[in-house]
Formats: sequence, C-alpha cells, structure tokens
Amino acid sequence: MYRSNTCGELRATNVGQTVTLAGWVQKVRNLGAMTFIDLRDRYGITQIVVEEHSDEATKEAASKLGRECVVQVVGRVIERESKNAKMATGDIEVVAEKINILNQAVIPPFTIEENSDGGDDLRMKYRYLDLRRPPLQRNMILRHKMAQEIRRFLDGEGFLEIETPYLIKSTPEGARDFVVPSRMNPNEFYALPQSPQTLKQLLMVSGYDRYFQIVRCFRDEDLRADRQPEFTQIDCEMSFVEQEDVLEIFERWARYMFKEVMNIEFNEPFKRMPWIEAMEKYGSDKPDVRFGMEFSDITDLAHGHDFVVFDSASYVVGFAAEGCASYTRKQIDELTEFVKRPQVGAKGLVWIRVDEAGAIKSSIDKFFSADDLKAIAERVGAKCGDMVFILCGDKFKTLTQLCTLRLEVAERLGLRDPKKFAPLWVVDFPMFEWDEETQRFYAMHHPFTSPKPEDAHLFDTGELGKMRANAYDFVCNGTEIGGGSIRIHDAELQAKVFNALGFTPEAAEEQFGFLMNAFKYGAPPHGGLAFGFDRLCSLFGGSESIRDYIAFPKNNAGRDVMLDGPSPVAQAQLDELFLSLVKPE
Ligand code: AMO
Repeated sequence: MYRSNTCGELRATNVGQTVTLAGWVQKVRNLGAMTFIDLRDRYGITQIVVEEHSDEATKEAASKLGRECVVQVVGRVIERESKNAKMATGDIEVVAEKINILNQAVIPPFTIEENSDGGDDLRMKYRYLDLRRPPLQRNMILRHKMAQEIRRFLDGEGFLEIETPYLIKSTPEGARDFVVPSRMNPNEFYALPQSPQTLKQLLMVSGYDRYFQIVRCFRDEDLRADRQPEFTQIDCEMSFVEQEDVLEIFERWARYMFKEVMNIEFNEPFKRMPWIEAMEKYGSDKPDVRFGMEFSDITDLAHGHDFVVFDSASYVVGFAAEGCASYTRKQIDELTEFVKRPQVGAKGLVWIRVDEAGAIKSSIDKFFSADDLKAIAERVGAKCGDMVFILCGDKFKTLTQLCTLRLEVAERLGLRDPKKFAPLWVVDFPMFEWDEETQRFYAMHHPFTSPKPEDAHLFDTGELGKMRANAYDFVCNGTEIGGGSIRIHDAELQAKVFNALGFTPEAAEEQFGFLMNAFKYGAPPHGGLAFGFDRLCSLFGGSESIRDYIAFPKNNAGRDVMLDGPSPVAQAQLDELFLSLVKPE
C-alpha cells in the first residue's frame, strides 16, 4: 500500500496514529535541527517534520529532497505547537519515521503553489505542472462535479446519453470545419462535427425522444477567451415538444445546477427577452442584465439642430452612466479613445453631464439648448449625478458599439460582479441575417431552425429579414451559455429555407440529402438546444477564460504549445493520403 491517507485528510482526531502519505514536495525548510516539508497531493498539503533525533536514514533522505520530488513518508501524527488556521490540516503535522524517495524531480520552471510566478505561455507549455496547482485542481473538480450533476438531472428526466461519431460529413454551421483526410477513400475528407446537430435530429427520427450528450465539438474559428477550437457541449434534443416545453425543462435544469453546484436559488422565473429588445436596450443579443444603464433611441431629439454628425446619422442612441457626472475630462477622453479603437469603431463620443444640482453641460452645447439637452437626459432616464453617453450611425452597428462602452463603464463601476448571476432567455431571434459582403442571407442559428408560424408568409413576400425563428439562447452575465431552436420537420418547409439561403435543390440534396431523406420516414416534431459546458464552468467558477476549465487547452493561435501541435507530418503519411502540400504565400 503506497499510502494510508491523503495529504488533505489528517486532523486533530488522527493524533497518535501512524500513517503513510505519498505526494510531491512543495517546499523544504531546513532549520538546522529540524526540517519541515510541505507534502502535496490533489487533496491538500500536510506538514512533515524531520526531527533532530530522527534516524540517520530519514535525515539523509530529507537532505536529498528538492521541490516536486515524489516521496512516500511513514510517520506519526502529532498536534502542532503553532497551528495554521489557513490550512485544512493545519492542526497537525507528521513526524517522519521513514522517507522513501519514489522519484527525483528537476527544478520546475515555475512555482507550483496557489499563486505561481510563471507567465501564461510558460504555464501552458508545462500544463501538466500547472495542473498540479490548487486553482486548476479546483477547476477540474468543479468541472467533474458539474458533469455528474448534469447527468443526474437529465437521467432523472428520462434523457438517454447516446454517442454520435466524430468523423462525419461536413455540415456547415457557420464556422469552418476541421477536416480529416481519408486514406481508404482517396481525395475525400471527413469533417469533425461543429456540433452533433444533424445526428441528434436523426436520433429523433429513430424515436429516442429525449437525447443528450456531453460531447466534444470542433470549430475552426478565431479564438477568444470564451472560444476554443475544440470545446464541449451539453447537447440535448427532444421530440414532441414546442419552444415552451424546451425552455421549461432547461430552466429547471439550470436552476438545479445553480442550486446543487453553487447553492444559489432564484425566486423569480428567468427573464425572457425578445431579440429586438435585447438589441435596442443593450446593443447585444447576450445582454448583461446584472445592472441597468439601458439604451434609449434619441434620434428624433438629436436631429434638426445643425449638428452634422447627428443629422447625417440614421440612428442616435444613448444611456445614462450612473453616478458618472464626476468623470474628469481625462476620464471622458479615455472613454472617447476607447470607443474610437478599431475593435469598437465609433467615430467619437458625445456626452451630457447632469451634475448633482441638476445643471447640464455637454460636448454639444453649441448646437443644443439647455432644454434640448434636458429632453435628451430625460429620455435616457438620467438622474442628477449621471453622465449621458451618446453614439450615432447605422442602427445595429451603433448599438453594438454602445454595448461595448456600457460594459466598459460597468466594469469601471464594479458592476460586473462575478458572484452575482443574472440568467435570462433571449427569444424570437431573426430567422435570417443579411451579409453585405457576400450579398446573401445566412441562417442566424442554423438552417434546420423553424420560422415562427405567424411569420412563414414572409417567404412569399420575400421579406426574409423580418422573419423570426423559434430560436432561443440562454444568456448569463453577458455570455451566451447555450442556444437552440425548434427544428423544421417538414421537407417542404426545409426546402424553402435552403432556397432562401441560396442553395440550389441539387446543392441542398448533396449536403443535406441524408437528413431530408430521413424526414420522409416519419420525423416527429422536435427541438432542443446545446449549452457550452466550458462556458458554464467558467461562469460558475468565476473566471473569464474557459481555458482555465479545460485540462489541455489550445492557445489563442490554436496551438497546443505543450504537445507542439499542429505539426508537419512525414512525406510517407502524406503519400498514403494522396495529399501534396502547397507552400503558403
Ligand atoms: P451553438 O452554435 O449556439 O449551437 O453552440 C451552442 C453553445 O456552444 C458554446 N460554444 C462554444 N464554446 C466554446 N468555444 C467555442 N468555439 C464555442 N462555440 C459555441 C456556446 C454556445 O451557446 N447545434 C446547435 C445547438 C442546437 O440548436 O441545439 C449549436 O451548436 O456556449
């Protein structure tokens, strides 16, 4: 037996026992007469003492210990003279009677403690060492616990966990596919699934009316803090349901998760917000509603004052930044520069200050009378002590820019508290999204999403931009955690959608024939959704980056710096796959 106890287990009640521990040496402090060793495993740290009168072999072994050596220690648990209230095992220590060095270790490239001195890149390269640190261990434990709770709930509701293949046919869902060449089928490629969307729909045709899977998905897209090229979905689908049924069960699931994992209960039903309201009030389809500062359209009040910037804009919109009237010139300049950065793209920022006494001052005093400014301040709900910020331009572009400013102001005001949770459903998404560049419509969710029946006539009038979908997102604290829709189960309607998306019947048949064909054999009405498991973990764990909850993540360039992948392959491998390479320009 390597160990009788873990390094996080021993308490005052164990005093007097002889125990065997095994773990990694976190620290050695040699005080001459005595040596103290912090011995760590994933359960915690136990202090080991080598005393002056310990036998020579033990003292000698102790003298050879360096950081991260793997050792086995046999010893007696005693009560500590100076207790450490910060440690779970801080009431005791183990007097070593035997130290068995199981493996030596070279000096690690960074300290493996609660707070490491290693930079991001270094810790990614030595991820297996970083994973020894308590913060990452807590994250892995949280992720594990969440996975168990997800399964417990869905199993209780009659969902079956069914695995779907990773080598599939390319079914574009908005991002680029990762493709895999097939040796046995020269010049043909599998795609790694962006999600099991079509497969779960086929399972509905097969009669598995409640399906789920905690499943890896792959998307070749630009990476950010909340995006990895491979990530995990909690993917779900149900038959014989309408939108309300899906929202009901998954709201219950979300409440269950908050309660079981975070011990948080919500008294009210989750807010439901139509997409257009989310866009107009918050400039985002994933609004952070932990705080107010909602937007108001002031186009009518802004036009007609000989201020060309406003007059030439089709949309003028603002919000009252709470308690920001005291912002200095410098702070306003900073925010102006912030919105002018290329990532945000605004041309400038207009402000109206409503001071504590109600007096108004503004960057557009020259064009607007005090009464005009007051009318704007009232429209946006500014109170004494607030600062109104205004942007103008094309409607949705401007709303998005103002959203970035709203979040920045909230960040500065400390309103984005990671311990506070504001979940909501965003509903009534548009069915289609027009893309200027390619001059065509794209499916806002995916091509299998059904339109709202009351909007289906818009296929005939050609007003595709106005059509709403039976699609919904689960949003919390400004992050899209999940999304889904009620699907089309009727071949004729599906053909109309493919047509609207610019597929010829032949192209639709080529890409989605397998699904359309299956639908001919009795497809039940069905719908579902998928949650981003990594995002849910980081929401619960309180960290911005989903990387912290993935054992072996990729960096922002999509590289695994630990494995050093992707990497070239041997010519023989390419030959086998009938591939030849072209040098990038
Ligand atoms: P969607 O594309 O909205 O829907 O994805 C569902 C959820 O997956 C998470 N997610 C990601 N997480 C990390 N890295 C990424 N690159 C990434 N991309 C998406 C998000 C998102 O809300 N098949 C549909 C679901 C359905 O209709 O049932 C789908 O995949 O949290």
